[in-house]
Amino acid sequence: ADLLLRLDEIIAAHKGREGPLLPILHDLQAEWGHVPEAAEPVIAAALGLTRAEVHGVVSFYHDFRDHPHGRHVLRLCRAEACQSMGADELADKVRAALGLDWHETTPDGRLTLEPVFCLGLCACAPSAQMGETLVGRVTLDKVQKLVAEAGA
Ligand code: FES
Repeated sequence: ADLLLRLDEIIAAHKGREGPLLPILHDLQAEWGHVPEAAEPVIAAALGLTRAEVHGVVSFYHDFRDHPHGRHVLRLCRAEACQSMGADELADKVRAALGLDWHETTPDGRLTLEPVFCLGLCACAPSAQMGETLVGRVTLDKVQKLVAEAGA
């Protein structure tokens, strides 16, 4: 579907309500998997906001992404229990090994690295999630294995 055409419809569907920005962003993300940068000025103009204001909201909420995800998403827990079990060190190693910083995707679109805030696996910290699979007591080795198994 044509982004701008569909965007017009989404904006029209929400414009009349109070606080239309979040529902518009949610709809966009649901359909496109992310909030395309090209949509920001259009939304801004329609709602009488600046582009910076729209972008600020997109970047403020963890739910929204301004880039499409790769085919596989690796999430590393950054919450307290995992922090206390070396999540930061692990994250440094993983980022170096994968050549990815947070929110980045490999150039071939295979893998995206995202932080996550508690996966409910605190007892086996540090934890991670690869696709739908939750993993505890994560090490760099385990991460590399997961990435290899996912074909990522
Ligand atoms: Fe990492 Fe809960 S803090 S799983």
